Amino acid sequence: MNIPVITLGALANAYVPGLEQLRGPVTVVRRCEELPELMAACQTGLARAAIIAPGAVELTASLADRLRFAGVVIVALTEGPRAPAIEGVEYVASSADPATLADAVSRAVERFDASARPRGSLAYADPLDLPEAAPSPVDVRDELADRPADGRIMAVWGPAGGPGRTTVAINMAAELAAAGTSVLLVDADTYGASIGASLGLLDESAGLAQACRIADQGGFGGAALGRTAVSVAIKGGRLRVLTGITRPDRWPELRPAALGRVLEAARSLAEVTIVDCGFCIEADEELSFDTLTPRRNGAALRCLEAADSVIAVGGADAIGVPRLVKALAELADIVPTAVPRVVFNKVRAAAVGRVPETQLREAWERFGPAAGISAFLPVDVAAADQALLAGTALLETAPGSPLRHAIAELAGVPIAERPRRRPGRLLRNVKFSGNTDRLPR
Ligand SMILES: Nc1ncnc2c1ncn2[C@@H]1O[C@H](COP(=O)(O)OP(=O)(O)O)[C@@H](O)[C@H]1O
Ligand SMILES: [Mg+2]
Repeated sequence: MNIPVITLGALANAYVPGLEQLRGPVTVVRRCEELPELMAACQTGLARAAIIAPGAVELTASLADRLRFAGVVIVALTEGPRAPAIEGVEYVASSADPATLADAVSRAVERFDASARPRGSLAYADPLDLPEAAPSPVDVRDELADRPADGRIMAVWGPAGGPGRTTVAINMAAELAAAGTSVLLVDADTYGASIGASLGLLDESAGLAQACRIADQGGFGGAALGRTAVSVAIKGGRLRVLTGITRPDRWPELRPAALGRVLEAARSLAEVTIVDCGFCIEADEELSFDTLTPRRNGAALRCLEAADSVIAVGGADAIGVPRLVKALAELADIVPTAVPRVVFNKVRAAAVGRVPETQLREAWERFGPAAGISAFLPVDVAAADQALLAGTALLETAPGSPLRHAIAELAGVPIAERPRRRPGRLLRNVKFSGNTDRLPR
């Protein structure tokens, strides 16, 4: 096997004569001075490995993934102590002789070929975001882990229009935490992050962006992730929170490849990780295949792909129902592995009819996908507003509310005592609730 390689940076280029003298197993096909030159050469499929000089470029997991997508493995020359290892990158001391370097290149390419998954197997495959190859034998992530990496990941997702994804995510997380489960709550909404504000966190640090930045450098585990999360006291328990981006234009900081690593680390930090996803999962494939532009929806897609379970939240009204039907069809298309549990929120007679659950079930049987509805969460404006105002979860401000009970049940933490108010009682105060003649039956 003769392996075509590209070199980047002076120290790597200096190896070229030595490698050529070996007459195999590597052939230098291009010497590059700068990263864009290297990227362009890799995109053409010219090479199988890139030998990169120390300091020629910042080595990150995203860069490794980008090159891996083009079928190129990185062999990094190192001088002195180096930063934590990045998966899939082969490291060689810059003092090594050309034969040692050539051996390292062969090894790296062999390992790459043995571990790489078929490219394009994901409908939304992105040059920036190839699924990770099998971990290398020395998996640095585990050095930092403080518990087995068996935590579960649950994505809370749903269409546009504020159906209540954040409300459901926060309150499920709070119920689980109060019941003694270790929980990490992650805000991965790239359009309207709001967990920090909803929990009254004066946190300008965008915990998730920070975690992504560190994960991108490699060597990231549960304990390191724990240090970037904020800890929030919730009645009888503690909830770890990774806040979202502070401005919508910071979305490129949530690189799917790095986010995937954060979620992997989350498995060894918490028993359950609940991720509040953005609504939009459009793939924009044509655009992203031709360019190396990151995609705004990549974060939601990566979360949905990584999740062990998905809660799909829809608004229980004439707009929310068809939106959820459409969104679920899109989800089935783009992330076929996801098996969502359908949840209707803000369930109220005023919007769908006198017996809203029956009404919604009938509509769902007619128009919705085969999977049934998992939960109906009643509207409770007073309870939702009170929790928001206090910057906490319903179990603190409205522990007896039907909404809190319904979410607790959805989280698998049913509460023994009965709700104080019966669902619907508050509806007497809703503007149109008395006007039943005009409501659809
Ligand atoms: N069951 C409910 N009853 C009343 N208000 C609700 C309910 N669920 C959510 N809300 C309110 O609706 C608004 C949008 O909810 P949010 O959870 O932020 O939606 P999303 O995350 O889907 O955009 C918030 O003001 C929230 O307090
Ligand atoms: Mg939200």
